Amino acid sequence: MRIYSRIIGTGSHLPEKILTNRDLEKMVETNDQWIQDRTGIKQRHIAAEGETTSTLAYEAAKKALQAADITADELDMIVVGTTTPDLVFPSTACLLQKQLGCTGIAAMDVNAACSGSVYALSVADQYIRSGQHKTVLVIGAETLTRMVDWSDRTTCVLFGDGASAIVLRADSEPGILSTHLHANGAHDDLLRASVGVSSGLQEAPNGGLRILMKGNEVFKTAVLTLGRIVNETLEANNMQPEDIDWLIPHQANLRIINATAKKLKMDMNRVIVTVDQHGNTSAASVGLALDKAIRDGKVKRGEVLLLEAFGGGFTWGSALIKY
Ligand code: UT7
Repeated sequence: MRIYSRIIGTGSHLPEKILTNRDLEKMVETNDQWIQDRTGIKQRHIAAEGETTSTLAYEAAKKALQAADITADELDMIVVGTTTPDLVFPSTACLLQKQLGCTGIAAMDVNAACSGSVYALSVADQYIRSGQHKTVLVIGAETLTRMVDWSDRTTCVLFGDGASAIVLRADSEPGILSTHLHANGAHDDLLRASVGVSSGLQEAPNGGLRILMKGNEVFKTAVLTLGRIVNETLEANNMQPEDIDWLIPHQANLRIINATAKKLKMDMNRVIVTVDQHGNTSAASVGLALDKAIRDGKVKRGEVLLLEAFGGGFTWGSALIKY
């Protein structure tokens, strides 16, 4: 019997504090019009002091477990997609496991930047498909605003914090139909963090930690790459664009989302958009959009969902899911 991973519950959590474009106008030389026109973003959530990636993940996980109607002791594994871990180690997955009180099960972080949700989902899917695990908690969680340079208008308007959670369970019915992961490390100069542990921290505010991005070049690569992965996913499943009920994309920029929807000839009312409210929450974004769509009653059981993401690395990936 073939084993599939089925989504049995989702959850998400956003910090209470909201930073609007108007607030940013007081911090850097920018304006609401520019941010909305170029990105579609109106506001983003910012983690408060004491809130960390694992505490946001914990809140999202509790909601997903509740939606799945299971307790944490039924989990076999936790996979966390994040590029902003609480600590270098223990991993955010281990810190989350402690908060959930399910010690003993496997727990690991996956760092694929903005593709973190899709990468984590794919890793979890492989463990379920192979029969090794039955119930896996998949998290995408970030506190990216902690590494934002608030004096750099080209990046500080883009990012927000948040967490998403998906509970997957083995089932004889689909399920995740396929996942597709790729990376190209050759473009590390276009999108990267400025410092790291082994390459050295600096004598600068925040230890020199900031996001460096050549936005325009990343934009062009993202549009081209996402177009290709959408085709690859459809071909692998012998499907046509019209077979997809919902496109649930990474929420980096509304213009990138529009371009992917256009490629699929999908009406925007079949595309889940949260970038206006959340900004770019990196690894959290796809799961946040999925949870919102389910809770808003848009996405219904039996529908076909195409999840896709592109981010630093470069990394990119997709998941085709029968919900
Ligand atoms: O999720 C991970 C992957 N990341 C992404 O997918 C992000 C991809 N990139 C983007 O979303 C877009 O490139 C941005 C939103 C970052 C920038 O939009 P753009 O249309 O590519 O603008 P640009 O970088 O070409 O800048 C256009 C102008 C520049 O001024 P000049 O040189 O034309 O005089 C910038 O200095 O806009 C200026 N600018 C701003 N003006 C007001 C840049 N940032 C701002 C700002 N407010 N915040």
